[in-house]
Amino acid sequence: MTDHRQLIEARIAEWCAALPNDGLFPPMAYLMRLPAKRVRPALVLMGCELFGGKAADALDEALGIELFHNFTLMHDDIMDAAPLRRGQPTVHAKWNVNAGILSGDAMLVKAYQLMAKRSEVLDLFSRYALGVCEGQQRDMEFETRLNVSVAEYLEMIRLKTAVLLSCALQTGAIVAGASVGDRQLVGEFGEHLGLAFQLRDDLLDAFGDPAVTGKQQGGDLRAGKKTFLLIRGAECAAQKRSTVLDEELTKPSAQRDVSRMRDVIEQLGVRSEAEAEVLKNDRAAQEALAAINVPEYLKAPLRALAAMLLDRAN
Ligand code: IPE
Ligand code: IPE
Ligand code: MG
Ligand code: MG
Ligand code: MG
Repeated sequence: MTDHRQLIEARIAEWCAALPNDGLFPPMAYLMRLPAKRVRPALVLMGCELFGGKAADALDEALGIELFHNFTLMHDDIMDAAPLRRGQPTVHAKWNVNAGILSGDAMLVKAYQLMAKRSEVLDLFSRYALGVCEGQQRDMEFETRLNVSVAEYLEMIRLKTAVLLSCALQTGAIVAGASVGDRQLVGEFGEHLGLAFQLRDDLLDAFGDPAVTGKQQGGDLRAGKKTFLLIRGAECAAQKRSTVLDEELTKPSAQRDVSRMRDVIEQLGVRSEAEAEVLKNDRAAQEALAAINVPEYLKAPLRALAAMLLDRAN
């Protein structure tokens, strides 16, 4: 385990152990303790060290961002009717929907308490957290909307996912006392990294190994989520007069043949198109990182994390 990872896991373990063990709290501890990548808190610490700060000084904010992320997951799993998260039953499946809503709300409040130490961080976090809600709203709207464009999809994933990675890095930069310009540059890196991250997430939902992702396979296709795969899949199918996707999408979601949808998306060349889109955003992230004026060795942890995320399997 890396030093960052150790710091984060220890802080999370300590936080969970201090929670009361009834009412609102067990669902929080349950979700927070399930094995996870901890990408966002790692980005807070790395953003801090990139500009000469100490990781330990940004640990509260790192925990705050991870709590916020877990709050979004708890509610996202209700909205997406997801049965599995991190290889285990989702909170609403294990308890009930009300428990998932309320524990999630309380986790959001706890995240805010940790993000409120510095007014600049609080301000940034509030703006970006609203962006996440906006993105989630569009994600849900698009499920039942026909003709969502790739540009609309990219803006939706920028909001629901990429802005939080950007916020994490900028938070670390603020703690380190970085200039506004540097903050913007590292934020840009985070946004491209986040776009690549969600494109990869969408690919894994359809093509990943559920034993590794810890999520139900093909949940997005079943729900008719307008991911890059389904949007470009429908466009290419129309050109090639393939009716498979249309046939499946007119069925009620529970009756959709997800593996048939997946196969046709792959045959239409859309899986490789999505892979190319991941690479394009990864390259843009690398360019943004290259533009930051700090010694190369300080960027190494971020480069390593980006490389790890590029071909992750979970
Ligand atoms: C899942 O986030 C939600 C997305 C924005 C795609 P992660 O893939 O970071 O999930 P964990 O925290 O590692 O479980
Ligand atoms: C989730 O996107 C984004 C947020 C939680 C804000 P997904 O719905 O694709 O995430 P997973 O696949 O359930 O982790
Ligand atoms: Mg979702
Ligand atoms: Mg989901
Ligand atoms: Mg997903």
